[in-house]
Amino acid sequence: MREELLSPDETPDDLVDEPGLRPRSLEEFVGQAELKGHLAVMLGAARRRREAADHLLFAGPPGLGKTTLAHIVAAEMGTTIQVTSGPALERAGDLASILTRIEDGDVLFIDEIHRLPRAVEEVLYPAMEDFRIDVVLGKGPAARSIPLDLARFTLVGATTRTGLITGPLRDRFGLVARLEYYDADDLRRIVGRAARILGVDITDDGAAEIARRARGTPRIANRLLRQVRDFAEIERDGHIDAEVAAAGLAFFGVDERGLDKASRAVLDAVCRRFGGGPVGLSTLAIAVSEPTETVEDVYEPYLIQQGLLMRTPRGRVATPAAFAHLGLAAPGPAPAQDGLFDPPAP
Ligand SMILES: Nc1ncnc2c1ncn2[C@@H]1O[C@H](COP(=O)(O)OP(=O)(O)OP(=O)(O)O)[C@@H](O)[C@H]1O
Ligand SMILES: [Mg+2]
Repeated sequence: MREELLSPDETPDDLVDEPGLRPRSLEEFVGQAELKGHLAVMLGAARRRREAADHLLFAGPPGLGKTTLAHIVAAEMGTTIQVTSGPALERAGDLASILTRIEDGDVLFIDEIHRLPRAVEEVLYPAMEDFRIDVVLGKGPAARSIPLDLARFTLVGATTRTGLITGPLRDRFGLVARLEYYDADDLRRIVGRAARILGVDITDDGAAEIARRARGTPRIANRLLRQVRDFAEIERDGHIDAEVAAAGLAFFGVDERGLDKASRAVLDAVCRRFGGGPVGLSTLAIAVSEPTETVEDVYEPYLIQQGLLMRTPRGRVATPAAFAHLGLAAPGPAPAQDGLFDPPAP
């Protein structure tokens, strides 16, 4: 089912509009200038040599454009893309059957590559390096291993966690690129572009207001645009300016900093229930009834980037800015206990 492929940050609604909103070329892809420059050179050179491009790894929080870039790589190279994911490749044979069907120059996209089982990952090493796999025929003492040549392909991996990629796998990529959160200007261009595609009537100020609260993330920018569009159509006359955008975002529970209910719940738990921390990740996840992976991959990175939350060896700690944002008094040093250290009365 398609829904199982949703990353924790994707809602089924995102899939309705996303295919149309997804940039199809490097030129249409907004922001990430340095990465785009590197890709333009690598892909251009490979094209000129008529070779498959080197293997690429895209890392970064959900919704920043990893899947989009994988498709762009195939489009720029004028080849076909085969899509799979780490958890879908349960056995070595699953990967082998994909690899043997792949054609020269094709892109193989493995999403969530950090979740590839170890045995499957080991098949990938010689495939990436020498375009070869060893197929084991038969079982037990009679088993034979037959080397099989593969077509020259480009592996594109995506991961929300670079830390979980093993050294040997990481080393086999020609480019390991980290996608960064987008700045407000890039996001405003992304909202403007999406509005044009969706036929939404929005002013520059309206787009800027949505961009400012999109948590640095194109997917969220597009989602907020759709919510504000709904709000404008039902509650107003459909036109979106800064005031309508602000009202629509408030209506959907997105605060001044762009935190939605779920991100605020994480922050609120650390500040209120755990007195600002430190609190362990799994305890925190239970408190907000979310899988630890979702808390760690989806909510935390932005809270950390915003200086609201810190990861420390003893657990998560809320900063004074987090207390201020939630309108709470920051806990001072523990109140002095009067008299405890007073010299004994004579
Ligand atoms: N640079 C960009 N310019 C314009 N739109 C973008 C850009 N990056 C992403 N988007 C939009 O955001 C959506 C989400 O991007 P994408 O699916 O590529 O993210 P992802 O990094 O693969 O996320 P996940 O980790 O959840 O799989 C895309 O469908 C696209 O509409
Ligand atoms: Mg993706």
